[in-house]
Amino acid sequence: MKHFTSVTDVPTPMGLIQKASAIKNDPFTNTELGKNKVMGLVFFNASLRTRMSTARAAYNLGMKVITLNVTADSWQLEFEDGVRMDAGTAEHIKEAVPVLCAYCDIIGVRSFPGLVNQKEDYAERVIHAFKDFGNCPIVNLESTTLHPLQSLTDMMTIEEYKQNACPKVVISWAPHIKPLPQAVANSFLQWSSHMDFDLTLTHPKGMELSEEFTAGVHIEQDQSKALEGADFVYVKNWSSFNNYGKIGEAPEWELTKDKLQMTNHAKLMHCLPVRRNVVISDDALNSEHSIVVSQAENRLYAAQAVLTELLNFSV
Ligand code: CP
Repeated sequence: MKHFTSVTDVPTPMGLIQKASAIKNDPFTNTELGKNKVMGLVFFNASLRTRMSTARAAYNLGMKVITLNVTADSWQLEFEDGVRMDAGTAEHIKEAVPVLCAYCDIIGVRSFPGLVNQKEDYAERVIHAFKDFGNCPIVNLESTTLHPLQSLTDMMTIEEYKQNACPKVVISWAPHIKPLPQAVANSFLQWSSHMDFDLTLTHPKGMELSEEFTAGVHIEQDQSKALEGADFVYVKNWSSFNNYGKIGEAPEWELTKDKLQMTNHAKLMHCLPVRRNVVISDDALNSEHSIVVSQAENRLYAAQAVLTELLNFSV
């Protein structure tokens, strides 16, 4: 595996999931693999889990870590070609990325969408620039449309907790006070196509995702009907794709413990951070259904599996 920017970079998604599970059972078997190598973490946006889990994964493999918070600590970057840089931007991405690759052996980058211009966001300009202008492996730490590290974790977690060969997995839209990216849901659907799931996507009218990701997916707009018999309920907000970046006004879609009674004792999942009593109620998050903290712990093993593959490829 040369890069990890999407499930399409992964030769065998199930093989990577199994590797992550094996690392969870024995995280310190490869402590020399990353000796004398540096992981660069480049953040255009905030993070708790991705930042900490990826750094810890790198340390478990013997790597050192350098973090750059672009907005706070660095020059404002220019991405346009042929532009006269006489305004805010001080450094072009064409210099910045190869310079970062001179200091780092693997680079992870997080860059959220503006949620104003759909075409611009779905062009994945930042990830493409890092791949095009760098000569080291690139890890997507959540881009404008995808969050593959989260999805690898989610698939691993479902495999870990499932009680039958083909569980019913429901991904349910939830309300939020701010417009959020579609990346987690998009990636979840992409990765699910490699799994033995009975998958249902449920959301209110108007909160459809891009057909690029929903083609062939069972969609049920009645949330109660969708939840019937579910083994896993993955709750996530996203802003509108068609009415691009708009918030969905449907507070009744909050996931509550009452709603979980309709399921088959479902495990409750969320990528975190979660706004309690907006997205998911206290009584659901505090209940025996919730596996959100175990799910977040698995981010470490997913990241370690990815870095192991990238280091093995580049050695
Ligand atoms: N789930 C996730 O990516 O968390 P952070 O935004 O805190 O990294």
